[in-house]
Amino acid sequence: MTAPSSYRSHRDLPTLAGLASIEDAARPGLGVEACVARLKRFHYAFLRLHEILTARITAEPIYELKTAFSHHAYLCAEHVSALRQRVGEMREPPLGLEAVPHEALQITYDEILAAPITDALLLGLYQVAFRELDAALERYQRDTNPLTDAPSVRIIRFARLELDDILSFGQRALECVVSDESSATYREWVVYLQGLLQMDDAMDGSERALNKNKPARRFSATPYVYDRIPKRDDRFQDVWNQGVNAESFLYNAELPAKPKTLMMLYKRLREIDVPEMMASIITETKGKPWDYYRDMSRQLWDEARHAMMGEVGFVALGVDWTKACITVNWSHRLNTECTPIERHAVLYFIEQGLMTKTGKRYEWEVGLESGLPLIATIQDFDWADEVLHAQLGRLWYIPAIGDWKTAIAYGDECWSRILSNWQEVKDQGLTQHANWWPGIYRQACVTWSENPDVTVLAFAETYEGARADLKNVTGSA
Ligand SMILES: [Fe+2]
Ligand SMILES: [Fe+2]
Repeated sequence: MTAPSSYRSHRDLPTLAGLASIEDAARPGLGVEACVARLKRFHYAFLRLHEILTARITAEPIYELKTAFSHHAYLCAEHVSALRQRVGEMREPPLGLEAVPHEALQITYDEILAAPITDALLLGLYQVAFRELDAALERYQRDTNPLTDAPSVRIIRFARLELDDILSFGQRALECVVSDESSATYREWVVYLQGLLQMDDAMDGSERALNKNKPARRFSATPYVYDRIPKRDDRFQDVWNQGVNAESFLYNAELPAKPKTLMMLYKRLREIDVPEMMASIITETKGKPWDYYRDMSRQLWDEARHAMMGEVGFVALGVDWTKACITVNWSHRLNTECTPIERHAVLYFIEQGLMTKTGKRYEWEVGLESGLPLIATIQDFDWADEVLHAQLGRLWYIPAIGDWKTAIAYGDECWSRILSNWQEVKDQGLTQHANWWPGIYRQACVTWSENPDVTVLAFAETYEGARADLKNVTGSA
């Protein structure tokens, strides 16, 4: 009899289609039931992490964290989808994916969701939750049979690849953001969370309820309340400013393409308000099929990317973007004055408007005409993303209202109710609507070694008197 270790494949080719050695595959590994029990826990972990990250986007002031939460939430959503599909392949219907697989997991994620400040949230997410999840996935890879369970091993490998990126970011975020004082304050809570995840093999076992005494809830003893008020860090100055009408400049046929790229970059960076707003739709809309949340999270992440494209463009042109007033008006008003479905209606109404000749295609053409290749690339992909978003709107928004015509009319109607607050914010002393345009334009001219064009420099049209979306002109999104 040949021992597995001395078995030879034909011409010493890699065995088992490259999956594993015969020796490794000859170890029995986990059974289907045990695999499903674990995969359901991983699914629950990604599901809850997606929920937490999404819910904390809006009120997180730090831009780099806002965009990272948007990214990580999307990655979690993709792994939720992969795990759901895999569980469905394992003799499992009814899937039972909505059930809480273990109370300790539920308490852990509830606690992190309710973390009182950013520092605690970062510790809960990146020091505990993602690390423990990755460790559990590693144990799964070790315990399961690489041949019999190859489809699970494959999705776990993908998940760990992205968890590695998430954890690298998280580690840096902990170092850059969390103060020594916070580390000390929350040290005990971190230990408590780690302890919860280790109770009864919460990440790996098959127990559903806690065997030992139920640990007391701390932050989550009071149910979490979503904070829908968008917040920004202090690089974002004069956030109620509506003093520069970017669309009016961009669509003016008399004005040259090159400075128009600055207005487009402003519009891109201003899109940070879309994740702030979409996070509120996702968080406050319950009971939809999973694919709804996955698709909405994809779009949310795209919008965060659009904002970052604006950031990159400005930096590449040597322009200090903090001197442009990146307004919070849109997300603030939609989040506080509209219901989730009304916000979705407005979003779709704006996005279908971007599909016209004067929408995203035009922005890409301006990018090409400007002679700045980076801007053309940015607008090319921005356009492609918006086509996807219009499709997602047709998939999820329109059926919620009825037919296309009714859905558009509803979006228009919802948006019409948001009257211009130009005078109101001025009267409240929130802004003087200062004209930031000449300062931004002058900075770019230095990079371009050009003298400012007198007409371009003199541009001073504001949003005063305009409906927030200017009817036929694009808003955010
Ligand atoms: Fe979009
Ligand atoms: Fe966008």
